[in-house]
Amino acid sequence: MELIAEIAHLRAQVALWRLNGEKIALVPTMGNLHDGHLKLVAEARQRGDRCVATIFVNPLQFGEGEDFDSYPRTLQEDAEKLQQAGVDLLFAPSVEVVYPAGQAAQSQIEVPLISDILCGASRPGHFVGVATVVAKLFNLVQPDMALFGEKDFQQLMVIRWMTRDLCFPIEIIGVTTDRETDGLARSSRNGYLTADERELAPALYAVLNAAAEELQDGEGDLAEMELSAANTLKEIGFESDYFTIRRAADLQRPESGDTALVILAAAYLGRARLIDNITLTL
Ligand code: PAF
Repeated sequence: MELIAEIAHLRAQVALWRLNGEKIALVPTMGNLHDGHLKLVAEARQRGDRCVATIFVNPLQFGEGEDFDSYPRTLQEDAEKLQQAGVDLLFAPSVEVVYPAGQAAQSQIEVPLISDILCGASRPGHFVGVATVVAKLFNLVQPDMALFGEKDFQQLMVIRWMTRDLCFPIEIIGVTTDRETDGLARSSRNGYLTADERELAPALYAVLNAAAEELQDGEGDLAEMELSAANTLKEIGFESDYFTIRRAADLQRPESGDTALVILAAAYLGRARLIDNITLTL
């Protein structure tokens, strides 16, 4: 596996593969890799001829007071894992390489209608930062496909819509959420949990499942179900950010007759902001 930090070097390597007609699959990450990331890599290797992974802790998607400075940076261990997983090229640029004129001078991409709700409401500017960096990575790598986890359901939708709106000839592939055996969705931020919080954390997925069952049974008012789930999380020890039932196609509130739904939750447990979701068809 090649470890590359400079754009010219990255472009030269990818151009060679393109010349050979090889299909390139991209797995963008912020590092501190866990099995969920490796599942993306495995899927990428199955679908493409070459797998490019990126590690970049993107300052543009962190708000003031968020964990940009303390976000775990574990490049050496990550590179070993990616090499073992069969990645061909790891692009791990510095902030200066990605934002040479500084963040304030960077043109930004905003995907309307879905960037300011849910996680975007709690983390203003977050999805502008995500869309901007992913668009840059798409232009730098020019992959045939890119893979993202479904745990970040709203992020995946922002990226799909951006790809469509900006006509990137890239297939966006969502990969099902990888979970610990107790149901907790794998996330780099799980590392912030204390031992006691880690015991409580799977309850987020359990409450999502209970709400999904209730919905399937067709009983109850949606707003009441959301409130009751948020209260349950609070009683368990979470600080609920949102617990909401939405239309899977656009994350708007469901109207009667909508059948493809997603239940999304975000909640703090100590320092960790956990997110998770369940999709369902009524
Ligand atoms: O999901 C992530 O790790 C990041 O948001 C991403 C997509 C790599 C963009 O920085």
